[in-house]
Amino acid sequence: MNIAFFDTKEYDIPAFERYGKERGISFRFYETKLDADTAELARGFDGVCVFVNDNVSAEVVDKLSEMGVGTIALRCAGYNNVDVKHCFGKLRVVRVPAYSPYAVAEHTMALLLTSVRRIHKAYNRTREFNFSLNGLKGFDLHGKTVGVIGTGKIGSIFIDICKGFGMNILAYDKFPRADADFPYVSLDELFEKSDVISLHLPLFEDTYHLIGYDALKKLKKGVILLNTSRGALIDAEALLDGIKQRIIGGACLDVYEEESELFFEDLSGHIVEDDTLARLLSMPNVIVTSHQAFLTEEALSNIAETTVENLVLCRDGKPCPNELCYGCGSMDDCKKKRKERCF
Ligand code: NAI
Repeated sequence: MNIAFFDTKEYDIPAFERYGKERGISFRFYETKLDADTAELARGFDGVCVFVNDNVSAEVVDKLSEMGVGTIALRCAGYNNVDVKHCFGKLRVVRVPAYSPYAVAEHTMALLLTSVRRIHKAYNRTREFNFSLNGLKGFDLHGKTVGVIGTGKIGSIFIDICKGFGMNILAYDKFPRADADFPYVSLDELFEKSDVISLHLPLFEDTYHLIGYDALKKLKKGVILLNTSRGALIDAEALLDGIKQRIIGGACLDVYEEESELFFEDLSGHIVEDDTLARLLSMPNVIVTSHQAFLTEEALSNIAETTVENLVLCRDGKPCPNELCYGCGSMDDCKKKRKERCF
């Protein structure tokens, strides 16, 4: 099975080559992202392997299908960049639902600690022999309330980590966990009572700009906002406004609404056109990492292994547990029909 691998970074290659060789899957690594202009590169391949910022629109799906490409293998959990419904009956779409939820949850806590203890400031200062403590005052996490929105795999681990810090937990989820040992509250109550808010839910139409101008009116003054999920869960303009109004006391972002042309690239010698991002980066209480939360040795290995196993099942024409539900309501294996969750 031959796979065109888009948006390749050097850290992707070793694990994919290793697992692919073991299971008879060969990869052609392209640096470019997949979109309507680059789809032609997939001609002659059985499948494509894509990441978070490849754009698999309906147009791309049609092009791939016309060329005889049969599988889209997402090497990530989120799939908001794929027109999954349009793939129904044309291509199979598989993903990696979990590769290391610990990696993302731990990175979220790393961001929170960096923010509240001003580590990013202290790091730069001491390198220049500036040992002054002025402006570095933080606050204890112990006894503070963290509002966790989305209590799936990553959100649940983040809750456990926060409990270790002695934080009070409030949670909101559209599908609350039956076995939860923390309280679920309404979104409004979470907004009003949380000192820290962390987002761990997917980007859907109903979660787009979950934190926007409306939410700003309800947030506790000084709240620290953490987003390691998907950028467009937060309206970046509203965030900027909230920071200027001193409603938001800190923002830690591993994802950004308009990240697709920016993140994962070295743009240090370029003029970046995105004024909102530039303004956010100029704020002393904003920390941005560029979609790095997943990036651990363990996660990269799991991503490659699961993706290769997904591809083997597709190649062999077998059902794949990591295939997405296309929301068509008509397949034998439709998750909705089984009263399970569907996108
Ligand atoms: P998950 O599927 O285990 O959990 C998501 C939770 O969100 C579920 O409990 C679900 O019920 C809840 N949810 C769905 N719709 C909702 C709504 N409208 N309102 C409130 N809750 C809702 O997903 P997981 O693995 O915990 O991942 C969470 C997100 O983290 C992913 O969607 C992905 O976007 C992001 N992610 C980011 C990474 C990074 O490197 N920054 C890496 C991996 C995932």
